Amino acid sequence: MDRIDKILVSQGIGSRREVQKRIKSGEVTVNGEIIRKPEFKANAENDKIAVLGKVLNYSEHIYIMMNKPAGVVSASNDNHDKTVIDILPDEYKRKGLFPAGRLDKDTEGLLIITDDGDFAHRMLSPKKHVDKQYIAQLDGEITEKIIQKFKQGIIFADGTKCLPAKLEIYNNDKKTGLVTICEGKFHQVKKMFISCGLNVVHLQRISIGDLYLDGNLPIGGCKLLTNLDKKLIFVGNLY
Ligand code: URA
Repeated sequence: MDRIDKILVSQGIGSRREVQKRIKSGEVTVNGEIIRKPEFKANAENDKIAVLGKVLNYSEHIYIMMNKPAGVVSASNDNHDKTVIDILPDEYKRKGLFPAGRLDKDTEGLLIITDDGDFAHRMLSPKKHVDKQYIAQLDGEITEKIIQKFKQGIIFADGTKCLPAKLEIYNNDKKTGLVTICEGKFHQVKKMFISCGLNVVHLQRISIGDLYLDGNLPIGGCKLLTNLDKKLIFVGNLY
């Protein structure tokens, strides 16, 4: 049993103060009864909790899609730079949040932020082979030879071997590549192109598994994942 205000905050309904105001004004019911005391205790999994009549679909964890902007680091805290956790809207902030996977400071696009360690592990483990897609703008043209090198598996200068990856020309522009990789080595996409004599001038992640960056999210914007969104991450993953 937990305090009703704590449960509502944990589900992203609002900050502690906002939620307490909504409870006091009679917007919240537990099993059909209006509850006006924030300290009222409920069982989040078994009680039917509703806000303005809308029943809460309780989830122990939170899963956030962020359209990461350039200039913030994918970390929970950092002494020098703003982190993706710092820029979360207040209603999503809670203990234990971390970015599931890293994008470089200058990379934009799809980032999942959660407090569910098992979920993050399933998404990130190279053994699980969850595909990630990136759009890379380059300082030179993609050739058939480079596409074949990606297909065979790039080997970095230090001998590190990458798994076979897919490179396609994006939007008929030979200086823009659509890259699909299923692992997440440090600076992987940039280093793969460097091995082929090209530099990445802009990088954006657009998908993880079959979950695509929501085109309506502004840069820096966030939204909660639905259960379907979460499943899409693992579609096609037979491992
Ligand atoms: N590969 C990179 O080089 N950078 C990223 O941020 C993600 C993949």
